[in-house]
Amino acid sequence: MKKIAVLGSGQVGEVLADGFLKHGYEVMRGTREPSKLAAWKAKSGGKTSVGTFAEAARFGDIVVLAVKGTAAEAVQDACGEGSLAGKTVIDTTNPIAEKPPVNGVLAFFTTLDDSLMERMQRKMPAAHFVKAFSCVGNAFMVNPQLPGGPPTMFICGNDSGAKSEVKKILDRFGWETEDLGAVEAARAIEPLCILWCIPGLTQRGWNHALKLLRTSPS
Ligand SMILES: NC(=O)c1ccc[n+]([C@@H]2O[C@H](COP(=O)([O-])OP(=O)(O)OC[C@H]3O[C@@H](n4cnc5c(N)ncnc54)[C@H](OP(=O)(O)O)[C@@H]3O)[C@@H](O)[C@H]2O)c1
Repeated sequence: MKKIAVLGSGQVGEVLADGFLKHGYEVMRGTREPSKLAAWKAKSGGKTSVGTFAEAARFGDIVVLAVKGTAAEAVQDACGEGSLAGKTVIDTTNPIAEKPPVNGVLAFFTTLDDSLMERMQRKMPAAHFVKAFSCVGNAFMVNPQLPGGPPTMFICGNDSGAKSEVKKILDRFGWETEDLGAVEAARAIEPLCILWCIPGLTQRGWNHALKLLRTSPS
């Protein structure tokens, strides 16, 4: 099993770190303040460690980026290109702006012509970014149980090997995978977060996930 770095001390970092542990991976979590993850490390046991963003990025064969969208590029810088070069970077982030939602609709700091993942891919061309886990709440990220069967995780990225690696992880985590192509598809995938959040932000609940339906298998 490959070693996983999970950059992020928030809910997504915790759920995905626990999911990778459940599926037998060794996990190191990264944060600006490693002391804040001491309780998680104590609870999680032997195959875990905690360090700075840069230490975790160096450790991981695969790196999961699970930080606030406004901080994602700063965290990339803190890791350094050398720690991410040649690695699959699973990008869970969404470019949510520091503004309140309007009638349940979140604001983004990017445009429909340039996504956050494209910005990060341009900054570090040697890293293999794959968008994943961005279009669903953290409660459903690992082995979701829904009456309509497995939901669909929309992914994209430029490196086909990295996307195959992410698809294998998504298979283990109980998802159908829909590969929408190269990094530019993040312009469409990131806004699915806006759509996914509307029912929750308008008090209709957070108990849903997205699924692509077809007349026949592709
Ligand atoms: N919450 C969800 O259910 C959900 C679902 C899908 C996608 N996402 C996306 O996943 C990402 C993580 O979400 P989250 O809810 O787990 O947590 P979050 O509150 O969005 O992010 C927490 C992480 O961001 C880092 N961070 C915040 N400000 C920073 C700064 N100025 N410089 C460096 N790092 C900074 C924190 O670093 P420290 O550890 O050092 O404090 C922490 O690790 C977000 O981009 C979000 O849009 C969230």
